[in-house]
Amino acid sequence: MDYFQDQVAVITGGASGIGKGLAEKCLQEGMKVILADIEGEALQVTVDAFRTNYNNPIVGHITDVSVSSSLEALRDRALTEFGAIHLLFNNAGVGGAGGAWTGTEKDWDWVIGVNLMSVVHGQRLFLPVMLEQNTPGHIVNTASVAGLIGGVTNAPYSVTKHGVVALTEHLHRDLLLAGSKLGCSVLCPGIINTNIGSSARNRPQHLINEDNPAPTDAQLAMRAQFDAVMAKGMLPGQVANIVFNGIRDQQLYIQTHEHFNDRIQTRAEDIIQGRNPDPKLYQWLD
Ligand code: NAI
Repeated sequence: MDYFQDQVAVITGGASGIGKGLAEKCLQEGMKVILADIEGEALQVTVDAFRTNYNNPIVGHITDVSVSSSLEALRDRALTEFGAIHLLFNNAGVGGAGGAWTGTEKDWDWVIGVNLMSVVHGQRLFLPVMLEQNTPGHIVNTASVAGLIGGVTNAPYSVTKHGVVALTEHLHRDLLLAGSKLGCSVLCPGIINTNIGSSARNRPQHLINEDNPAPTDAQLAMRAQFDAVMAKGMLPGQVANIVFNGIRDQQLYIQTHEHFNDRIQTRAEDIIQGRNPDPKLYQWLD
């Protein structure tokens, strides 16, 4: 896809961070935009701010991407408003919590629902419409560099992001085999300055652990370290420019930070050589 003027973009997680950056880039490219988010107030603030600065048609639609009927309603709203969908960003996500065995069932359900099943359902529900249109279009699924290397962040998050990479690789193959006019990319950002550190703000009541002790001093210190690193991260607007270059170039893997490449290469070599990973590579914040 290399023509964006007057085309229609749907962006999940569009009220904040990377999604908001992508939405603004779509507006700059002259697109009609539907912003979907679970956080109603933030969504309204974002839509209002965009309407002040851009004349393009802009719609905000409250959506819970972990619920397939909610994504179905989003798709139908896009079609009712604009009659077509050309660019789909399956972007909404949460930071997650829990270790390989310390993550509770609710931790896993929350993160898998928002980070992985949202993309499964997004593809399942939007692709038939986009294929039927028979026009150029593109799907961008947001994974993470945590989907390309092992053992960083937390277990549920890593699992979902590896899943999004695998899912997009399948989508890429299937679109090629079908001779489709659609392209796809998996966005694998490094550290980006967003609100992901406060993802718990959107955790639904029924998926909050009953046993939810106050954080220990060690956990608070780690959190402060994480926030300091995130605050120095790349800006979402820069990510959006990289993504649009990737869409124009029909690039499957879109990365934002080259400095993770040595870890990606080491992981591949570990697998080929049957060598166990160096524990140092498990550290995210170094
Ligand atoms: P953010 O917290 O600033 O934005 C995420 C948006 O998703 C928020 O507006 C939030 O309200 C929305 N959201 C959360 N749960 C939702 C649900 N159930 N339904 C609909 N919307 C929901 O965080 P950020 O960083 O912009 O996250 C966007 C994507 O980027 C996520 O998939 C995240 O995993 C990914 N990512 C972020 C990185 C970073 O360093 N910030 C690095 C790698 C990947």
